[in-house]
Amino acid sequence: MERPKTQQHELLRVLTLKDAVGVGLGAIIGAGIFVVTGVAAGLAGPAFLIGLLFAGMIAAFNALSSAQLAAVYPHSGGTYEYGYRLLNSTLGFSAGWMFLISKLSAAGVVAIGFGSYFYQLIPVFSPLVLSVLAVLLLTLANYFGIKKAGMLNLVIVSVTLISLLYLVFSGIPAVKQENFQPFAPFGMAGIAEAAALLFFAFTGYARIATLAEEVREPHKTIPRAVIITIVSAIVLYAAVSLVAVGVIGTERMADSRSPLQVVAAALSTPAIRTVITIGASTAMLGVLLSQILGISRMLLAMGRRHDLPPLFKRVHRRFRVPHVGILLTGAIVQLLVLAGSFEFILRSASFTILLYYSITNIAALKQPESEQLYGKFIPVLGLIGCLAMSVSLPLQVILSGLGLLAIGFVLRLLFHKVYDK
Ligand code: ALA
Repeated sequence: MERPKTQQHELLRVLTLKDAVGVGLGAIIGAGIFVVTGVAAGLAGPAFLIGLLFAGMIAAFNALSSAQLAAVYPHSGGTYEYGYRLLNSTLGFSAGWMFLISKLSAAGVVAIGFGSYFYQLIPVFSPLVLSVLAVLLLTLANYFGIKKAGMLNLVIVSVTLISLLYLVFSGIPAVKQENFQPFAPFGMAGIAEAAALLFFAFTGYARIATLAEEVREPHKTIPRAVIITIVSAIVLYAAVSLVAVGVIGTERMADSRSPLQVVAAALSTPAIRTVITIGASTAMLGVLLSQILGISRMLLAMGRRHDLPPLFKRVHRRFRVPHVGILLTGAIVQLLVLAGSFEFILRSASFTILLYYSITNIAALKQPESEQLYGKFIPVLGLIGCLAMSVSLPLQVILSGLGLLAIGFVLRLLFHKVYDK
């Protein structure tokens, strides 16, 4: 039953520019830089660095579209809301549902990743137990208020940043020029494939837009935060990747599932291996924390429109967070961690998230001219980039992504039947 208006509570607008950049960087720096760089290095040789910059550029165009939209529509739900407001309910719902699928499956992956890294530091509990504990802890951190979650996120992100900068500065003297030769052994095709893969490493730049209702002075803060976040991520990733190639070469990077740890092992700076393992652990935690934040706000936005049960729109009286969504998110991620293998969903997620970003760009193009901060050129390039990457995925991935979307529409029909009165 609908609660009377007076009993409904609102989210708190407390996140500052620093918090917002922290959420962005927490969402971005994760498995991409710690794992995917190795795969990309194998596909393109040292020229994967070009692919990295290309992926960063497409991400930046997309980020600017998100920033422009969030500045005008600072509501929870990001592209789900823009889709509804500027396009139509089908595209709006598609964006929300695809966000949920891709972020939930990615949250499961980073939680498992955390367990395996942290186990190397403290091998007391099994990696699985560590993953479960991490999900529990971060769900609670989210539950007790956005300010607390934001502060914890800043601590986590600072540790990750310090560890990566330590690697960069330790590695510079050990860079060997010959490791950059031959530069592009697999030609343009290798670079393009590496770029498509590395786009994942930059995703998360728009997380703050999903939380827009909790940002102070959102019209000013969100565009600034998004731009600072994506530029810092591009510079950091480029520096880390340059040093990684220079120190161990792309063949050794490609041979490892954890290439930055191999780089650290090749250096003699004090404690560098431990520092990188800590950084990898906190990077996974940061992504997990921000996934729970983002997913719960998306559930709230979708509950408001009855695309999901309206109980998700409830805001906790004391902590002023969408607590039902947070608890459900925590529970689903725990199940994914316990299930372990959900490659099918994860692979489909790479397609669904590209569609999500495509809808962001289409919505940005639909904004009236007076709202367009960066001109039409940026969303057009962002859209072309996303569509090009999505059609380059295997047909099976595209079809399974569309299948998951169809399941969403069936459920939506059901929810509207029950809750639209
Ligand atoms: N960009 C995030 C990562 O690399 C999703 O893990």
